[in-house]
Amino acid sequence: MGRSLKGSHVLVLGGSSGIGLATATAAAAAGASVTVASRSSEKVSAAVAHIGHAAAGVTLDTTNDSALEAFFSTHPDWDHVVVSVAAGRSGGLRDLSLPDAYGNMNAKFWTAYKTARFARIAPEGSLTLVSGFLSQRPNKDALLQGCINAALESLGRGLALALSPVRVNTVSPGLIDTPIRAAMPADKKKAMLDHAAATLPARRVGQADDVADAILMLMTNPFMTGSTLFIDGGGMIS
Ligand SMILES: NC(=O)c1ccc[n+]([C@@H]2O[C@H](COP(=O)([O-])OP(=O)(O)OC[C@H]3O[C@@H](n4cnc5c(N)ncnc54)[C@H](OP(=O)(O)O)[C@@H]3O)[C@@H](O)[C@H]2O)c1
Repeated sequence: MGRSLKGSHVLVLGGSSGIGLATATAAAAAGASVTVASRSSEKVSAAVAHIGHAAAGVTLDTTNDSALEAFFSTHPDWDHVVVSVAAGRSGGLRDLSLPDAYGNMNAKFWTAYKTARFARIAPEGSLTLVSGFLSQRPNKDALLQGCINAALESLGRGLALALSPVRVNTVSPGLIDTPIRAAMPADKKKAMLDHAAATLPARRVGQADDVADAILMLMTNPFMTGSTLFIDGGGMIS
């Protein structure tokens, strides 16, 4: 295994869209045998067709504890696991209902925690979590999202100790143009992306492949563990 993904078994939870799909596609192109999992069987099938390279797909809701545990007990052998599951809609302190807030924490934070608990990962392998730069730059309109991301980054550091020698890292994206904003009105979305491209130091909006590149590096660099890597076009310093 080592620095190459050739012949390795890679699982991407949340691999049917956006950052997860780009990661799965890049890992398959690098010679890994890839499995993607998410809730929608249509999205999983489309992702498997897109990835090619005999990718496998699993329909799985990671908020279902027993289904997640059963999945890992019947699929015990992973070299690299990536958790790129998105939370639900975000909102400000008084806009987001408490059930939605709990649901977001459940989908994003607890999926990562449970995956670390249930997954069996090869000693030379890795676990990569996806957080987000709101962990460092709170936004009042996505308050909880920042807290979830900060909790994930802390979890990643702790897991690097708890799961050693398996390496555990977190990638923390800035604004990335993915289907996560599919429900946003097109004009609002365009204005937001245009503004980001005009003001970010990188003078562009991030693409899912930008984050996938970083995740592949974290998977294959044998001296990286306990790190949080920001892929944010300079969003944190602007
Ligand atoms: N895009 C950005 O600007 C950005 C910025 C910072 C951080 N991030 C983080 O990056 C991660 C990936 O985001 P993305 O932009 O790639 O979003 P995306 O395109 O919406 O992909 C999210 C993936 O999560 C899956 N998913 C959601 N809930 C699930 C559940 N309960 N069980 C299993 N799978 C589930 C979705 O598939 P199903 O619908 O089929 O379940 C989908 O495959 C998220 O954690 C997000 O918060 C994104």
